[in-house]
Parts: sequence; structure tokens; C-alpha cells
Amino acid sequence: ARKVIIDTDPGIDDAMAILFAFKASTVEVLGLTTIFGNVGVDRATDNALSLTELSGIATPVARGAAAPLKMDPRQHADYVHGADGFGNIGWPGPKRKPDPRSAAQFIVDSVLEAPGEVTLVALGPLTNLALALELEPDIAGQVREVVLMGGAVHETGNVSPVAEANIINDPHAADAVFGAGWPVTMLGLDVTHQVLLKAAVLDRIRQANPDQGDFLSQAAEHYFNFYRQSLGIDGCYFHDAATIAYVMDPSLFGCRHGVIRVATEGLAIGQTMMAPEGRSFPTPGWEGRPLTKVAVEVDDVRVLALFEQTL
Ligand code: BDR
Ligand code: CA
Repeated sequence: ARKVIIDTDPGIDDAMAILFAFKASTVEVLGLTTIFGNVGVDRATDNALSLTELSGIATPVARGAAAPLKMDPRQHADYVHGADGFGNIGWPGPKRKPDPRSAAQFIVDSVLEAPGEVTLVALGPLTNLALALELEPDIAGQVREVVLMGGAVHETGNVSPVAEANIINDPHAADAVFGAGWPVTMLGLDVTHQVLLKAAVLDRIRQANPDQGDFLSQAAEHYFNFYRQSLGIDGCYFHDAATIAYVMDPSLFGCRHGVIRVATEGLAIGQTMMAPEGRSFPTPGWEGRPLTKVAVEVDDVRVLALFEQTL
């Protein structure tokens, strides 16, 4: 099975991704590392621990950064995920305790223990990954792949016309992650906006798998209401769980390669800009940067079927 660490700010779609990964026989979750974002990092850590208990999987959970590298934190996304991150359903707190290490240390230790084998799946702001690189720059050559949900190169943003939430929450960290030279695959709004998850899928999961299905259906109600009321959409976009589908079967996605830079200030803060592979520009900032694999196409029917069948 493919060894992954999931860096996450749970979050309703994070919960979908984590439960999906726990159920996938081809994925081995070495640990969850937590990050501020949808909620504060303490709440994110409790939520991650609760998801391990719900699944009966005693994988370690390591607490990560509480704030971006260089900026003041933005507001949490209560209006999307609820103040508790799980749609305000009153889910009980966890009994398990976090790993004593920081998220960044946990990432470094795990990568060095299994060189070339660990995939980092990032579902929130990229601060922990940037901190891990600072702690041990050698991990860049030893990670199998970084698969992140974030950004948008052609599609409109979701918190500004050009910015996606995970990237704008720590644009400096994101720019460091795209520039580190490890193999990065970006699944941004270009693909996640093409996959619409309907409540009926969760209803069917609930019938087949009541433990996790009940939780997901309850938590997702708040999320579906947000989509209906704010965006006029019946269903929710398949953001974080798309990364797990990609890890399980990359052929579900069509990708291009390009150099990604992130705007770290001004009106476009948080924008992910792509210089397509092979193009050079007479403007500083684009030469000598590594290529990122950017997903631009997705087979939505097969992605949703994989999610439903696995859960
Ligand atoms: C991303 O932002 C968060 O609110 C979601 O959990 C997802 O990771 C989508 O832009
Ligand atoms: Ca997330």
C-alpha cells in the first residue's frame, strides 16, 4: 500500500478525505498532521483524533502550526464548516491524545525512516510542509510525492477572484512548497469544481456503512446548506477527497506541467500563477524553478464511484 501522511484542517471535506483514505486498501496512513485553516489548530487536532477513533485506526496525530509563516491569520471558515469544523453537530471530543512531536518533526521523521516511499497529502494551508523543509531540507529529495489540494490556474478562486482558501491562508509557505524541488502534484479548483458530490451519494454510503456514513451525512448537512444558500448549488465540490482518489488512481486526472508561483501580497495575494512547461518569460521570478504537475481534467463519474465504493 502507498504510505501517506495527511496534513489537514478538518473540516468537512477533510473528514471525507480522511475516512476515504482509511478505507482504501491501497493506502496506508502513517499519520495525520494538523494545521489551522477551516478551524484553529487545536480544534483541527481534536477533530483529526476523533476521526481516527470513529474509524478504529490508531494512527498518530501530530499537532502543527497555529498561524501562517509571515502573516496574520485570516478568519476561520465557520460559515462553510461550522465553528467546530464538523457542521456544529455536537460530535463528542476525542479520548486519544496527540503525538508529542510537532507536525513538521513528525513529517521529517517519517520521511527519513522510509526514504522515497512517503507521499505527503496536504489538505490545508501549507505551513507545516514549509516548516518541515526548513527543519530538514534533505526531505525534498526523499519524499515520493506531494499531493496537495489548493490553488487554481484557470478557474476563478473561491475566496477572491484569483485565490483559493488553502493557498491564501499561507501564500509564503505555498510558494516555498512549489519551489522546493520535490515532486508536487496540485489538485486545485480547476478539477475540484468539476466534481459535484450530491447528498444521495452520502445517503447510500450511510446505508452500507452506518458508522462513518451517519457522521458524514450529519456533518455534511451544514456544508450542503452553505453550497445551496451561498452558491446556489445542489451538492458540494469534491475538494480534499480528490487527493485520495488521485493517490489511488492517477489515471482519473489529466495533468499539465508548469512552474507555479504564488502572489504573496497585494490584491492578487494567494493567486497561483502557472508558466506552462517550455515557455520562458522576460520577467524575473520564473527561471530555475521546478515544474509542478497540475491537474486540469478529471473523470468525475469515476472519481465519485471510487469514493462511494471505497466507503
Ligand atoms: C479548501 O479549503 C478548505 O475550506 C477545504 O477544506 C479545502 O481544503 C477548498 O478551497
Ligand atoms: Ca481542508
